[in-house]
Amino acid sequence: MELRSRRRCLITLLAVAALLSGGVGSIGVNYGQVANNLPTPDKVVQLVRAIGATRVKLYDADPRVLRAFSNTGVEFIVGVRNEDLGRMKDPANARTWVRDNVQAYLPGTRVCTITVGNEILTFNNTAMSDDLLPAMQGVHEALVASGLDKQVSVTTAHSLATLQVSYPPSAGAFRKDLLPYITPILDFHSRTGSCFLINAYPYFAYKADPKHVPIDFVLFQPNRGITDPSTNLRYDNMLFAQIDAVYAALGSVGYRNLSVQISETGWPSKGDADEAGATTENARKYNGNLIKLMKQKKGTPMRPDWDLSIYVFALFNENMKLGPTSERNYGLFNPDGTPAYALGITNSTTTARGGGGSTPPAGPRIDGYMTISEAANKDATRIVAVTLLWIIIPLMIWMHV
Ligand SMILES: *[C@@H]1O[C@H](CO)[C@@H](O)[C@H](O)[C@H]1NC(C)=O
Ligand SMILES: *[C@@H]1O[C@H](CO)[C@@H](O)[C@H](O)[C@H]1NC(C)=O
Ligand SMILES: *[C@@H]1O[C@H](CO)[C@@H](O)[C@H](O)[C@H]1NC(C)=O
Repeated sequence: MELRSRRRCLITLLAVAALLSGGVGSIGVNYGQVANNLPTPDKVVQLVRAIGATRVKLYDADPRVLRAFSNTGVEFIVGVRNEDLGRMKDPANARTWVRDNVQAYLPGTRVCTITVGNEILTFNNTAMSDDLLPAMQGVHEALVASGLDKQVSVTTAHSLATLQVSYPPSAGAFRKDLLPYITPILDFHSRTGSCFLINAYPYFAYKADPKHVPIDFVLFQPNRGITDPSTNLRYDNMLFAQIDAVYAALGSVGYRNLSVQISETGWPSKGDADEAGATTENARKYNGNLIKLMKQKKGTPMRPDWDLSIYVFALFNENMKLGPTSERNYGLFNPDGTPAYALGITNSTTTARGGGGSTPPAGPRIDGYMTISEAANKDATRIVAVTLLWIIIPLMIWMHV
C-alpha cells in the first residue's frame, strides 16, 4: 500500500473505532431503597442496563447490591449514612467502614466515590455540620491507609438550598452562614481531587411558583430561554442555569476549577392536589429529555467542555418515604420492575422486569429505555471496538505514525 492510502485506511479504522466505542453517554441513577416491596438486587441489574445507566448511586453500601453488581462494569457511589457521620471522625471506625463497605467489593464492583452524608449543611444542625469535614477527612485517610485513595474519592452531596442566590447564574452565591463550613470542604476537594456534588430539582422551583416559572424551561422543552445579563450566556433549561449558579458560587470563593456533579435530579409522576406539576406527562418529559441531553455529552454554558455527570432520582418509586405524595413517586420504575411511565417515543416490549410483575410494560418508550438485547448489543460493539484497537495499534507501529 502507498503511504497515503495506508493513512486513509488508518483514519477510517480510527473513526470506526471511535464511533463504536462512543456508544451511549453515561447515565447515572440513584438507587434508593426506602420501600418494602422492591425487587431483589440481582433483578435490578437488568433494570439499570435497560435504561442504559452505567453509574449507580446508593445512600448506603448495601452488600446485596454491591455483590449483585460485581463484574457488571457499573460504577458506584456508595454513602456513609447521615447517622453514621459522627463515628467517621475516629480513624479506627473510618478504617473499618472502608474495609467492610468498599475494600470488600473491589475490584469486582467498581466503587469509585464515597459520599459522606447527604444534604448535611441544610439541616441547620450545628453538631452535624461540625462533624461533616472531619468525617470526610477520616474516610479519606482510611482510603490512603489502604492504598485506595487514587481510585476512590471522597465527597458529600449538598442541597441546592446551600445557595443564597441562584439567579441569574452568574450571581450564584453560597449562604453566608454556611461559608465557614463550605470553604474548608472546597479546600478538601481541591487537595484530594474530588468533585462538588449538588442535588438540584427544578421541580421545586416550579412547584413554588407555577404561575411564573415557564414549564417548558424547567422540562427541557423548546422555549425562548433566558440570557444572563452579565455574561450574555443563554440558558434554555433551568437545570443548567442552576448548575452554573453553583459554578459561579464556587468561583466567587476562589474555587473556579472544581468540578460539579449533579448527585440527584428528577421529577415526580404523582403528587398531592397542592403539588403543581407532579404529573406522569411532566415526569416523562423531564427525565426523557434529560437522558437525551446527557447522551449529547454537552456541558453547561459556563463550562461547555467539562464532563457533566448527572444521577437521575430515582430508580424506583419508594413507598415508605415520608412527606407529600410526590416523595414516593420519583421512580422511573414501579416496584415490580415495570416502567412507572413510558419514557419514550417508539413502542417496544422491554424484557427488563425486576420483580413479580407479570404484565410486560406496554406503550411508548424513549431511546433511554433499551431492551436487554439492545444492551447486549452495546456490549458487543464495545468488544468490536476494543478488537479494532488491537488491529490499529500494530498498524500505527508499522506505518511509523
Ligand atoms: C435553615 O436556615 C436557612 C437560613 O437561615 C433557612 O432559610 C432554612 O429554611 C432553614 N432550613 C431548615 C430545614 O430549617
Ligand atoms: C485548578 O487550578 C490550579 C491552579 O491554577 C491547578 O493547579 C489545578 O490543577 C487545577 N485543578 C483542576 C481540576 O483543573
Ligand atoms: C403504541 O402504544 C400506544 C400506547 O400504548 C398504543 O395506543 C398504540 O397502538 C401503539 N402503537 C403501535 C404501533 O403499536
